[in-house]
Amino acid sequence: MTKRIALGVFEMMNPSNGMPTWTDDRGRGDEWDDLEYWVALARELDAAGFDFLFFADTYGYATLEGRMPEEVAAHGIQFPALDPMLAIAALARETERLGFVVTSPTTVERPYATARRFATLDRLTNGRIGWNIVTGSSQATTDELFGVTEQLTHDERYDAADEFLDTCLRYWEHSWDDGAELRDRARGVYADPARLHRVEVDGRFQRSRGIFAVPPTPQRTPVLFQAGTSDRGRAYAARNAEAVFIQGQSIASAAAHVSDIREQAVINGRLPDDISVVTGMTVTVAPTSEEAWMLREQYERLLSLDDAAVMFAGITGLDLTGLDPATRVVDLKTDLGQTLVQRYARQNPDMRVGEILDQFRTKAIRGFQVTGSPVEVADEIERIVDGSGIDGIMLEPTFGGVGAYRAFIELVLPILVQRGRAAAPVAPTLRERFTGAPRLAATHRVHGLSAGAITPSPIGENA
Ligand SMILES: Cc1cc2nc3c(=O)[nH]c(=O)nc-3n(C[C@H](O)[C@H](O)[C@H](O)COP(=O)(O)O)c2cc1C
Repeated sequence: MTKRIALGVFEMMNPSNGMPTWTDDRGRGDEWDDLEYWVALARELDAAGFDFLFFADTYGYATLEGRMPEEVAAHGIQFPALDPMLAIAALARETERLGFVVTSPTTVERPYATARRFATLDRLTNGRIGWNIVTGSSQATTDELFGVTEQLTHDERYDAADEFLDTCLRYWEHSWDDGAELRDRARGVYADPARLHRVEVDGRFQRSRGIFAVPPTPQRTPVLFQAGTSDRGRAYAARNAEAVFIQGQSIASAAAHVSDIREQAVINGRLPDDISVVTGMTVTVAPTSEEAWMLREQYERLLSLDDAAVMFAGITGLDLTGLDPATRVVDLKTDLGQTLVQRYARQNPDMRVGEILDQFRTKAIRGFQVTGSPVEVADEIERIVDGSGIDGIMLEPTFGGVGAYRAFIELVLPILVQRGRAAAPVAPTLRERFTGAPRLAATHRVHGLSAGAITPSPIGENA
């Protein structure tokens, strides 16, 4: 059967997303902080039948040896930036079906506040919200901004993230029974107190007690995305996530990732298809192949080697320019984000630092690069999807403005629709587009939590 491809767009609320495109006429340098820009984008994606708009986000920014390098501010390298979560209600109001996935870290946030914010958005949008769970990039600056003094190791941050999610899940799924919200005006009973349950978490990293203030939403829990593909990150995803965001580099490596995640899901008592894998993809399309390649060359010239090094350092904590270019990738060690380092090590363990910078300069953090005429692009997308088993793609902007998506919508989407690969979503909730049901699957570990089977945070006295 032809597989429908879930369609999303990968954005950040900054002047240029992943490449410094804000100086280009086709970019959004003058509009990125204007709500109307984002409303217009959301409307366009909604009308075209996209499943969701995804916002990456971080509190931090790139640093080298504890200081913001001049390039960050001067060249606008993922800086400055706004908090995308605060725009979602406005974007949702202007759209009918489009889902919204927002990145929020488990390190400096508190579980109760996170649970409440996402439930509020899910309620206001009738179930169109997803949470991209990350332990966070730019961790060093983020810790400094929040005054965090206790540094956790890379793997401990994921342990803490497990407990963080546990706490949120208990509030979303177990604090209110179905039907507890009565809104019975005749009897004057808003909610049935006997059907509300006190959550009690007394864990290693989190403590939280009480009854959730937000009544259940159509999804209860927002769709759980995860990004971070280190070994520990994958284990986290296999246990918790419903969708995993990767930046696929080749069909073979994406296929290996997909089967690894599915195998690990089964080990966790889940079904292989309980987790959808979605890849980032930059599509450069034009009426002819030649025009498309010309566009690609233009934007690949935008990122200088120095800017690339700064961006790389912001994510990994590693200053590649300070290392011998002959250093092997397998000898790089970091306690910050390991996804990028492992990406190159998996590609070729013998790869040298000089080569990494060269590759990173043109690709930055982006996923598959697909370039060509409309038919060439559609063919390549089908090859990637069928060859790797991924479930969806997230388009990355080329020059940063709406134009990049418009070219895809006008030139490629009709071909994918005609081939049965794309179809506008019908289901009202975001989760239904991935799993067919509005609520978390019966195989998800959340159902074990209510029975108190998972320690160290049993549900409270009323459970
Ligand atoms: C495709 C992808 C997108 C990501 N987007 C974000 C993001 O928007 N914000 C963030 O803080 N971290 C993001 N990260 C993940 C974090 O960087 C991750 O939690 C951190 O790097 C530590 O985990 P790791 O070692 O598994 O990479 C992303 C990771 C990947 C692979």
